[in-house]
Amino acid sequence: MRVLAAWDWHRFTEFTVWGVLFWVNALVLIGLVITAVVALMRDRVEKPAPNLTPFLGDDDLETRRLERVLGWALVFSAVLAVSYGVYWLREPTRQAGSQTYFDEGAIERGEVLFANESYAVFNAAASLKCADCHGPEGVGGAAPYTYSDPETGTAYSAPWSAPRLDTVMYRFSPDEVRNIITYGRQGSPMVAWGVDGGGPKNEQSIDDLVAYLASIQLSPEEAQKVSAEALTAAQGQADKLVADAEVTLDDATTALATATETLDGLVALPDDDPAKIKADRAVTVATQDLADAEDHLAWAQEWADRRADITDGQLLFELNCARCHTKNWSIFSPENQSLRPEDLLGLPGGGGSLGFDLRDGGVVRRFADTLDADGNPAPGSGRDGQGLFVRNGAENEKPYGTGGIGSGRMPGQCNDEFASKFSILEHSGCMLTPEQIDAIVAYERCGLDAVKEDHAVVEYDENCES
Ligand code: HEC
Ligand code: HEC
Repeated sequence: MRVLAAWDWHRFTEFTVWGVLFWVNALVLIGLVITAVVALMRDRVEKPAPNLTPFLGDDDLETRRLERVLGWALVFSAVLAVSYGVYWLREPTRQAGSQTYFDEGAIERGEVLFANESYAVFNAAASLKCADCHGPEGVGGAAPYTYSDPETGTAYSAPWSAPRLDTVMYRFSPDEVRNIITYGRQGSPMVAWGVDGGGPKNEQSIDDLVAYLASIQLSPEEAQKVSAEALTAAQGQADKLVADAEVTLDDATTALATATETLDGLVALPDDDPAKIKADRAVTVATQDLADAEDHLAWAQEWADRRADITDGQLLFELNCARCHTKNWSIFSPENQSLRPEDLLGLPGGGGSLGFDLRDGGVVRRFADTLDADGNPAPGSGRDGQGLFVRNGAENEKPYGTGGIGSGRMPGQCNDEFASKFSILEHSGCMLTPEQIDAIVAYERCGLDAVKEDHAVVEYDENCES
């Protein structure tokens, strides 16, 4: 019954190659059955034995009959020849098609694999708890991570942000997602899950996970909405940090006042009275909390000053690119004042988890304004070429810019280039708007090199002439 339930009945009613072939075959089969039944029911007439009936003469046999037989042979050979050709032409897509063919059962099995305890389908023996890090339904989250300061050796808890996966198929094709899950991301908490990468799961399970992820992808409108919300949150992040720090400071001030009042009320008691010792300790703790809250507010204000007038281009780069292109970005949080950016982070654009340095004019060199033989901008070159690269990402073994070769690990922001090739993808479009992509390109070309270690804001000319 499960197999039947998993079978996609829509395939019979859709006007696709598969659907049409199915009905043609069904009609032929019905025809054959009818012919057979009719033949069986027809009255059987006694025929004279073949050796007693006269057969065709030589003239008939060697001319008309022979020609008819040869004619039919020619027709059938032609049919064979043509169908071999068609088969050969379709073979690559046929394989890709079957590789990316997932049934309803795959999504259900993938959901069980992805689930953590918050899912109704959670199965302690089978679930891999992807949702622990990536959030339920892939809304994004964080992986527990401990960072130890290379100089002091001090260890800090610094959660490593885990990307939203309900938009991952705007950034990567289903095949690239399959690769990421199979091999993990070296140097990050995302481990290899596939047998090929040294993980526990066979290809079928990885395909099921890909099918599940495909099924939870947001529409382009929803994806752009969550991207816009993330941008708004980032714009307000420093101010929120200050506002929160002010509330904490108020609370700490009140707590100290209360503790001091309690202690003052016990002034008549001897110093070694347990109640007085306790109240005294409370004042010490509250005093320390107040000092910490003051420190934190000072840091929050400093961070807000550094980030005043930040451009959307920089924020969008930080939100969408820095995790791979800025060292330690994924564990940075301004809330954590003991890990300040100047101590923790690489320079903006300088080597992240996938270690690709965009600094020192690297981007502008890669997307230089080169001309083709006719004097037109060479395809993929210059600012426009860079915009397309950010939009569509890199493909494995495909060239980009001037002399770049992709590995398929640089994500795009739009899937319309490949969405039609994968039947499991329901949506086609972009998770960022063209204006947002332009803003990122401007920041990369004109702003990136100007930003300092403290990740403060610098002014840059969005139309810089480099
Ligand atoms: C321990 C936490 C953790 C678990 C469990 C986990 N991941 Fe990840 N995953 C991460 C982190 C962190 C990243 C980002 C790594 C980086 O910074 O490059 C990531 C990245 C990814 C990406 C790439 C997303 C992108 O846009 O770059 C995919 C796809 C993914 N994980 C799928 C899965 C699936 C499927 C599972 C379950 C089999 C899973 N992850 C389990 C932490 C986790
Ligand atoms: C998941 C990691 C990842 C993220 C996120 C990412 N990149 Fe990349 N980027 C790469 C990798 C890897 C390469 C090298 C090309 C390849 O291997 O496909 C690359 C290459 C580049 C290059 C070309 C550098 C050169 O000199 O060849 C530019 C420019 C770039 N990325 C910009 C961006 C921008 C802008 C964003 C955000 C919109 C971004 N990247 C997000 C991984 C990432």
